[in-house]
Amino acid sequence: MRILVVYTTRYGTTEKAAELAKRLFEDREHKVDVSRVEEDPSPIGYDLVILGAPVYRDGPHWDLMRWVEGHKGELEEVPKAFFLVAMHLAGSVFMGKLHGGIAYAQPLIEAFEVPPFYGTLIGGEIDPDKLSDEDRRKMVRFYAVLGEKLEKKSLFSEKDVEAFVRRVLLYYDWFGKHFRRGEVEKAKSFDFMEKVRELERLTG
Ligand SMILES: Cc1cc2nc3c(=O)[nH]c(=O)nc-3n(C[C@H](O)[C@H](O)[C@H](O)COP(=O)(O)O)c2cc1C
Repeated sequence: MRILVVYTTRYGTTEKAAELAKRLFEDREHKVDVSRVEEDPSPIGYDLVILGAPVYRDGPHWDLMRWVEGHKGELEEVPKAFFLVAMHLAGSVFMGKLHGGIAYAQPLIEAFEVPPFYGTLIGGEIDPDKLSDEDRRKMVRFYAVLGEKLEKKSLFSEKDVEAFVRRVLLYYDWFGKHFRRGEVEKAKSFDFMEKVRELERLTG
């Protein structure tokens, strides 16, 4: 199928994940275009759109959200999945509210009538020496809230990107392909437990 990977990045980690995802989709015989949001790609004509963004200030990078907003109508017609690159992967409950982790994805779910059928977090990287002065100050505060010090750290793992690609293709096949306007009702007939039983029968 034809896949568009659209992403934004500030320090390059999300770009690394997007390029690796492209290679892994291509290894599985799919045709992939990778494009930065700044190039304003059109999602028309693709079977699947992958949205990739780093988390900044507790949410998906606003440049990706702006692109989503600008192409909302077209994006309702095509199945979507996303990956977010972040440092606070596990998330926590902070002052009684969900904070970090997959809660970072909420704006991407709320942006659509027909939401992405799959999405996950991928570990990010931080190198204080590469940050702008302003970003370094912000990150010192971010880690202070977590009771940690800002230091060079990488949570990025190629295995996470591989798992993302594998699951996107699996779930696309199971139900994701119907996650488009006018067809999403069909996805409701997908029965997860029945799938598990079917797989159990196949594997004995
Ligand atoms: C100013 C700033 C704010 C950040 N805010 C968050 C945040 O709220 N939550 C989080 O998990 N990671 C946060 N990060 C970490 C980034 O998500 C991480 O460094 C990521 O790898 C950046 O991706 P990029 O290289 O594609 O820009 C922040 C980083 C910076 C520099």
